[in-house]
Amino acid sequence: MRTLITNGTVVNADGSFRADVLIEDELIAAVGLSGDRSESGQALGALSGALSGEAVDRTIDAAGRWVIPGGIDPHTHMDLPFGGTSSKDDFETGTRAAAFGGTTTILDFAVQTKGEALRPGLETWMAKAEGACAIDYGFHMIMGDVNDATLKEMDQLVEDGVTDFKLFTAYPGVFLSDDGAIFSAMRQTAENGGLILMHAENGVAIDIVANANAAAGLTDPYYHGVSRMPVFEGECVNRVIRFAEAAEVPVYIVHLSSRDALEEVVRGRDRGAMAFAETCPQYLFLSLDDMDNGFEGAKFVCSPPLRPADHQEDLWRGLVRDDLQTVGTDHCPFDFEGQKDLGKDDFRKIPNGLPGVEERMDLVFQGVVNGRMTRERWVEVTSTAAARIFGLAGRKGAIAPGYDADIVVYDPEKKHVLSASTHHMNVDYSCYEGMEVQGHSEIVLSRGRVIVEDGEYRGSKGHGRFLKREVAREYLR
Ligand code: URP
Ligand code: ZN
Ligand code: ZN
Repeated sequence: MRTLITNGTVVNADGSFRADVLIEDELIAAVGLSGDRSESGQALGALSGALSGEAVDRTIDAAGRWVIPGGIDPHTHMDLPFGGTSSKDDFETGTRAAAFGGTTTILDFAVQTKGEALRPGLETWMAKAEGACAIDYGFHMIMGDVNDATLKEMDQLVEDGVTDFKLFTAYPGVFLSDDGAIFSAMRQTAENGGLILMHAENGVAIDIVANANAAAGLTDPYYHGVSRMPVFEGECVNRVIRFAEAAEVPVYIVHLSSRDALEEVVRGRDRGAMAFAETCPQYLFLSLDDMDNGFEGAKFVCSPPLRPADHQEDLWRGLVRDDLQTVGTDHCPFDFEGQKDLGKDDFRKIPNGLPGVEERMDLVFQGVVNGRMTRERWVEVTSTAAARIFGLAGRKGAIAPGYDADIVVYDPEKKHVLSASTHHMNVDYSCYEGMEVQGHSEIVLSRGRVIVEDGEYRGSKGHGRFLKREVAREYLR
């Protein structure tokens, strides 16, 4: 099967140019300057036959469109049991919604059950995803128990393509690891070449403030946000980066939400720490004010929480300056009715997490629309950087020969309104209800196959494959 995407502008992290893209089966076979640019001296050479449309099964005319590498969302939670319920999107519905939004790879989190080994947790998540996904997927491993046996298991998981491990300084009694556990896991990972992911907020201190607020009758969702103070995030980001420096291991801060945390990442990187960080659209677009609306605020309960609006500008600047490398969604949707209302009378019982896997590419694109970032940086933070950090370089994250043909034909002008009535995520609300955005995915290909076109899903359950990832030593060190 040969597909030719013609007349478009290829946008990669390292530059943009008018070019035709030839796909053979699952891979990008060639990228050649468009006919109207061939006088520039870069002859199309051997490609010319194919690029002129001969022996091609399908030609996609991308005139006026951008041809970008499919998005990579490095942080999703499909079908995650959490907070007394389970996140509403499973791997089928969640990956389909991701595809509609121009994301062609997700990295989800397998969870170790406390008291068990890592492997059974990974197998449980493999079974959830196998045969269900519309797009390719990989796993990070959440470590709940660090002991001699699980430390040894980490090495084998890295060999098997699960190259990173998420630990928590939050959620006491559920996921929290103490300093010793975190530092031990870091030392092990320094040896096996993997990467440590940290949910860095001080859960012990947070619980003291949260419990005091609840005892004083301050039980609305808003107090979830107020209790989880930015300083608690900054303190932990500093601590885990310092530990990582001592262990000589790269560390990646997930879902960074505040100026306080960002400042610690900048300080660490300036010292030469192998520190990387991800923020999420909710921290760039939403604020604590959205939570200050009675129980409606439960729609915005996630951890770390939304911050006062003045943090947003710092996060945008961090993204542009490469203090923050990626934008993940932390997609973890719970219905407002029937799930979020578990915490109707007490914010501590509201399941933590927001939907967003479908909206990420378009939301971050608003940074291009309003002139904050270049289109190349947009591609970098939504795709290319995640490929590099998470061991997918050379396969995903660029429009180049030999790469998987995960491609989005993107209309940079198309305006649309975000709404639960039109989105494809399996959740009963949108955090961005009624917001008009510019830019939208028109055609989405996953490994050469068109999976979204004309606003319709044309993919199939089970097309998505597990990605056995490489250690990304060269990039991370
Ligand atoms: O509120 C959140 N972030 N829910 C998902 C779990 C996590 O900590 O990433
Ligand atoms: Zn987390
Ligand atoms: Zn998460």
